[in-house]
Amino acid sequence: MLHNKTVPKAKGDFLLGNLSQIIANPFKALCSWHQSDGDLVSFRLATRHFYLFSHPKLIEQALIKQSDVFNKIYNPDKPTGLALVLGEGLVTSKGDIWQRQRRLMQPVFQRSNIVTLLPQIVIAGNNMLDRWQRLGEGAEINVSKEMMQLTLEVITQTMFSTSVLDKVEQISPALDALLKYATKTIINPFTAPLFIPTSANKKFKRSLDIIDDVIYDIIEQRRSSSSLHNDLLDMLLQARDEKTGERMTNKQIRDEVITIFSAGHETTSNLLSWTLYLLARHPDVLAKLRQELDSVLQGKTPSLEDIQELHYTKAILNESMRFRPPVGLMLRKINRDTVVDGYPLKAGRLAIFSIYNIHHHPEFWEQPEQFDPDRFLTPENRRFSFMPFGTGERVCIGNHFALIESQLLLTMIVQRYDLELLNTDEIEIEMAVSLRPKGGVPVRLKRR
Ligand code: HEM
Repeated sequence: MLHNKTVPKAKGDFLLGNLSQIIANPFKALCSWHQSDGDLVSFRLATRHFYLFSHPKLIEQALIKQSDVFNKIYNPDKPTGLALVLGEGLVTSKGDIWQRQRRLMQPVFQRSNIVTLLPQIVIAGNNMLDRWQRLGEGAEINVSKEMMQLTLEVITQTMFSTSVLDKVEQISPALDALLKYATKTIINPFTAPLFIPTSANKKFKRSLDIIDDVIYDIIEQRRSSSSLHNDLLDMLLQARDEKTGERMTNKQIRDEVITIFSAGHETTSNLLSWTLYLLARHPDVLAKLRQELDSVLQGKTPSLEDIQELHYTKAILNESMRFRPPVGLMLRKINRDTVVDGYPLKAGRLAIFSIYNIHHHPEFWEQPEQFDPDRFLTPENRRFSFMPFGTGERVCIGNHFALIESQLLLTMIVQRYDLELLNTDEIEIEMAVSLRPKGGVPVRLKRR
C-alpha cells in the first residue's frame, strides 16, 4: 500500500506553531482547523506535536482497528493532564490495571443494578425541586450550578451511599480549577512543573487537597462502618487481586473513587444544563416534549418501563449530546509509527479525536448547526458519526447510567418548571476537557 499522503498542517507561526491560537480559544481553534484543513490535521504547540481527527472513518481505523497503537497517555513517573488529578483510575489507566479494574467495576453499571438506583436519583431530584419551590416564584438561579450540585448528589448517593452537599461550595470551584489546570498541562508545554511554587501550581495543590480530603473522608468513614452498603465503594474495598489475593491500596481506591466522582457528575451536569438551555430556546421542542410526558406519565415520576416509552425525550437528549457533546474530545498517544487512511503518523505524537467536529460534520448531518431532535426519531446506523460516550474498549462505563439519570431528572424538572432565560444571547462553549456553557445558564423559575 502507498503511504504517500501528507497530513495537512494548521497554519501557525514559525517559533511556537499554533500555541497562541489554542491558548486564545482551544474550542474555536479545533473547529476552525477542521473547517479549513480537513478531517485529519496536524498542529504544533511549541515542542509538542498533535494530530486532530474529525472523521468517523478515521475514528474506526484508529480507535477500533489500532487500539493497541492509540493509547491513553498515563505515565506514572511523569503524570500529565487528567492523570494529575485522577491518578491511575479507570479513565486514565491502561494495560492490565485498566482491564482488571474495568472488569471489577462493570457489574455496578449493568442495567439490572442501575434499576435499583432509581429511587435515589428521584429523591435527589425531588429535593432540588422542593428547594426551588422554597425559593419562590420568579427566583433567579444558575441552571449549571444547580445541575452540578444535583448530579454530584446523585453520584455520591448511588455509588458511595453518602452526600457531600454540605461541602459543595468548596468542591465545585476546586474541581473546576483542577480540570482547567489538567487541560493546561496538555496544551501548554511551558506549564511549570508542579514542584515549582508558581501561583498556578499552588492553587492546583490547594484544590487537590480539598478534593482529596473529601475523597479520603468518604473512604475512611466506610472503613470504620460495620454495615454493608452494596455499592461501588464496598465493591472496591472488598476486591482482591485474582492472582495475589491482595486488596487494593488506599491510593488505588482513592484514584477510582475520585474518577467516578468527577467523570460521573460533571458530564451529566453538562448534558442537563445544555438540554434545559436548548429547550428554553426552542419552545416548539419543549411543547412536543410536554405532550409526550403528559400522555405517557400523566404527571407521575417515570418508572424504568415508562422511560422506555419516552422516545421523544430520548431523541432530545441524543440531539443535545450531538449538538453540544458534554465531552468534546478524546486524547491518546501514538506509541509507534503507523498509518491511518494512507497517512503516515509518527510515534510519540498526541492524537485528539474531536467528538464535537464529528457531530457537526456536514457529510453525516444535514444542517448540523440546527438543533433538531426529530433526526433521532428514525433509526440509522450512526456507529462512528455519533459517539458522545466514546467508542471501542474505552467506551464510557457510565453510559446507561447517565442516560437513565438524565431522562429521569429532565422529565421531573420539565414537568414542574418553566425556565425563562435571563439572557437571550447565545451561550458560548467553554472547553475544559468537557464542553460547558460559558458563564452557566442563568434563568428565572416559573412554576407550571
Ligand atoms: C452524559 C454523560 C457522560 C458522557 C457524555 C460521558 C462521556 C465519556 C466519554 C467520551 C468517555 C471516553 C473517554 C476516552 O475514550 O478517552 C468516557 C469514559 C468514561 N466515563 Fe463517561 N460520560 C458520561 C457519564 C459518565 C458517568 C455517569 C460515569 C460514572 C458513573 C462515567 C464514567 C466514565 C469512566 C470511568 C470512563 C472511562 C472508561 C474506561 O476507559 O474504561 N461517565 N465517558
